[in-house]
Amino acid sequence: MEVVIVPDSATGGELIAEAMAALLRRKPDALLGVSTGSTPLPVYKALAAKVRDFEVDASHARICQLDEYVGLPSGHPEAYRSVVLREVVEPLGLTDASFMGPDGSADDVAAACLDYERALAEAGGVDLQLLGIGTDGHIGFNEPCSSLASRTRIKTLTEQTRQDNARFFKAVEEVPHHVITQGIGTILQARHLVLLATGEAKAHAVALAVEGPLSALVPASALQLHPHATVVVDEAAASSLKLADYFRATYAAKPLWQGL
Ligand code: GLP
Repeated sequence: MEVVIVPDSATGGELIAEAMAALLRRKPDALLGVSTGSTPLPVYKALAAKVRDFEVDASHARICQLDEYVGLPSGHPEAYRSVVLREVVEPLGLTDASFMGPDGSADDVAAACLDYERALAEAGGVDLQLLGIGTDGHIGFNEPCSSLASRTRIKTLTEQTRQDNARFFKAVEEVPHHVITQGIGTILQARHLVLLATGEAKAHAVALAVEGPLSALVPASALQLHPHATVVVDEAAASSLKLADYFRATYAAKPLWQGL
């Protein structure tokens, strides 16, 4: 995996947005997998700016969701579908037609998970999947001890994740216990994985994911299995990496044409 240490989240956002733009220039209808939470917002802001400035045409881009809460009424502002439409789809000037995600309000959740797996395969697979990381090392909503081969399915959130996500709701009691998430096996099928982590609160999880052993206990360590995984971290999130100097030197010497 490649680890890129950037000075701040805006620089990380710009770097990843440029990788997305380069992909869209090569493949205008690329399927971009997006994640939610606070971390990826600078990426979406930078990509929307590139579209506004005519640096890239995103009009044929397709957007897909990584995970979703179960049981929030459809249209709830914190349902991830609403978040992705608001933060990604609309700012890029796209419509709902270019967006796909699992149905967290379905009566039959298991069927909704299978439907989503099928839809991703029929769409030709994800070209670039943007990931964040939970403080407990989760990716998507694959909590610790998720099978490394898992597919899209229902999961139960840890108390730590519910507390972490409570800031988006009025109270922690409102954070659903259950979620649908692309499995780790599903995520690993994307052609390029890009994980962005910023802030000191992520430093421990980042170090375990990048330098620790491959372990279901740290779901993000599954990126070690992927042939094209990029981890972009700011200085604070990089602060527990033993190999930080090596990662810095490697990136500094990287030929520009390679991109991410
Ligand atoms: C949620 C999402 C993850 C995201 C994580 C971290 O749990 N399901 O996809 O990576 O939050 O969010 P933040 O970037 O806000 O710390």
